[in-house]
This record gives sequence, C-alpha cells and structure tokens, in this order.
Amino acid sequence: MSEPVARHYEAPDLIARIEAALADAGTTPETVTAEMLAPVEEFHVGGRPATDALLDAMNIRPAHKALDVGCGTGGTSRHAAARFGCTVEGVDLTESYIRAGRTLTAWLKLDGKVHLHAASALDMPFEAAKFDLAWMFHVGMNIEEKEALFREVFRVLTPGGRFLVYDIMRGEDEATPLTFPVPWSTVPETSFVRPPRDYEAALTAAGFTVAQAEPRRDLADAFFAAAAAQAAAQAAGGPRPPITLALIMGETARQKFQNLKQNYDAGRIVPVAMLCEKPA
Ligand SMILES: C[S@@+](CC[C@H](N)C(=O)[O-])C[C@H]1O[C@@H](n2cnc3c(N)ncnc32)[C@H](O)[C@@H]1O
Repeated sequence: MSEPVARHYEAPDLIARIEAALADAGTTPETVTAEMLAPVEEFHVGGRPATDALLDAMNIRPAHKALDVGCGTGGTSRHAAARFGCTVEGVDLTESYIRAGRTLTAWLKLDGKVHLHAASALDMPFEAAKFDLAWMFHVGMNIEEKEALFREVFRVLTPGGRFLVYDIMRGEDEATPLTFPVPWSTVPETSFVRPPRDYEAALTAAGFTVAQAEPRRDLADAFFAAAAAQAAAQAAGGPRPPITLALIMGETARQKFQNLKQNYDAGRIVPVAMLCEKPA
C-alpha cells in the first residue's frame, strides 16, 4: 500500500515550483524567510496557527529530541526547531518531499537542528527510546495498520515520552462515503479515515495512555474562514498570493480543498488532536 500512497504525493519538481513562486513574490532562496514560506510549510488543516496551538501544549524544551512522523517536506519540524530550539528528526514515505525538505531546511539555515529521512513510519530507522516526544500531523489517514504504526512510535519514544496525534478522523456521520479527491488521497483505496474510538483503541493496544482527545473544529473553522476571506479578496480583484499549499497539492488543489471542506461541513470528517504518553 505504501507505493500508491507515495505516488499520490510525489512532486519531483516541487523545489522548482517553490523557486518560481519565490521569484513571483520578489524573493530568492538566499533572502526568503520562514514567515514567507509558512503557507507552504504546513500540509494540514489549520496551517501554522494550528501547529502553534498544538505544539505549545507539548511544553517543548531546547534539550528535547523530537520526532515528526510523516513530516512531509518538514515544515512542522523546522518551525518547532526554530521556535523551541529542540532537535527534530522527520520521517516521510515520499522521497521528493524529503529531498525538497532538505533544500528548504538549508535555505532556512536549520540543517544543524532538523534531519529528514525517507522511510516508512511503520519501520523507522531509529533505535529504541531515542526520542523525548513525537507528533504526527495528518498522516494516519494514509495508514491502514494503525496499531502497528503506534507500536513503532511507542518503540522509539523514551518512557514518559509524549506523542501528539493530529489527524482527520470520521465525524458524526460515519456512514456516508467521503467525496474524493481529498488532499491525502485521490481515491478511496488509499484513504483509511477512522473514528476517534478506533485511534484510541489502537493507541491503547500499542501501550500508550491517551490523556486527551479533542475534536479541533476551532482550528478547522478558522482555517476555512481564512481561505474564504482570501478567495473573496481575490474575487474582488486582489492579488493571488504566489506561495500557497497549492504548490504541494498540484493541479487538482482546488478540487481537493473543496472536497475537504464539503466533507467537513457535512460532518463526515473532523480534525482531532490526541495527546498520549508512553508510561514511565
Ligand atoms: C497530508 S501530508 C502531512 C505532512 C506533514 N505532517 C504536515 O502536516 O505538513 C501526509 C504525509 O504523510 C506521509 N505518509 C503517508 N503514509 C506514510 C507512511 N506509511 N510512512 C511515512 N509517511 C507517510 C505522506 O508521504 C505525506 O507526506
């Protein structure tokens, strides 16, 4: 299953696309800032504000070794390293994302703090108990074997280590099939969106204590409202921002985003955050 998933995401020309967008924005890899890149750095509902709200709750310290499971191009890894001073290792299945991520990390001069690896989250290239904390943003929707995934994260966390899951899960309407394509999948065959109780069961079976599980409609509502405001400004003749998530989502970005919102508005999906701990 991992090959079709990576095929959905692969974007061999991603850095060229981003460089072209930087030129449109009047900047270059030498002068670009983390703030300018932010819209393309976070491939999850809520974007950068969600990242801040979620990571702030993890009490991250400079001495911490953190793991970003399914890091994409590593935007969350870079932001965490810059904001909290921690070191971060990111793992992702999609090789072109890892290649692009290493370039972006170099542009932002974070190569001393952030290391990105092309690997499956089901078999990570790390020794046991290496990390103090881990997070996984919008990845479980692509992974059917959730218990195996959580066992692997459990293995590489130190006792007492915390794990934050922020995934799209089934909402109150669990029965109606989702409308595709969505940002994580073009077709139903590579989408494994499950209700929160399945996550809790898999996390618990893997050994985690689930301390908190919360639907984050606040983050989704703010995200969709900001997108609507941007669309309205453009419709009124305002400029189209060159650096957006569409650079990552490709030609069908608009349709994927519309379906994401439609599925959310219909109550078929909801982003949920779960804060877990590996018992000490
Ligand atoms: C929607 S993106 C989220 C990326 C990133 N976490 C973020 O929030 O910006 C989902 C990512 O999960 C990765 N992924 C899916 N299945 C995976 C697996 N089995 N192992 C590692 N990464 C995986 C994909 O390659 C993709 O980069």
